[in-house]
Amino acid sequence: MQNNRSAGVTGYLLRDTDRFCQLLEGAQGVLDALYDRIHRDPRHHQIVLRMKRTVRERGFLGWSMGYGSLSAEDSAILARSFAGPPKGILLAFNRVSRIASVAG
Ligand SMILES: Cc1cc2nc3c(=O)[nH]c(=O)nc-3n(C[C@H](O)[C@H](O)[C@H](O)COP(=O)(O)O)c2cc1C
Repeated sequence: MQNNRSAGVTGYLLRDTDRFCQLLEGAQGVLDALYDRIHRDPRHHQIVLRMKRTVRERGFLGWSMGYGSLSAEDSAILARSFAGPPKGILLAFNRVSRIASVAG
């Protein structure tokens, strides 16, 4: 959270029993460097970049990194959406936004 705050990164981190789903927002160069660091972190295995997109405004402005646990239902929905075509991935991202806005 400290790193993100000073780098102007916002986002949300969700976990279930053995997986994380993280959404990161910020300047392209900053995010590339952060993704590299996350990739090199030996605590991570099998990292998958699901989607990169340019947005007009951030959806997670209040969070240098919000954090929540996924319900079994949301976890199953995200897994299904991520496994599908790009439209499903976008739906999964929207779902993360909804989970975040409910969880606070
Ligand atoms: C699930 C998970 C999520 C992480 N998310 C971030 C993040 O959003 N920002 C960040 O700077 N580091 C994050 N880290 C830590 C990075 O992998 C890495 O250890 C850290 O950026 C190194 O920074 P430092 O050189 O300042 O210690 C995360 C680690 C884990 C395990």
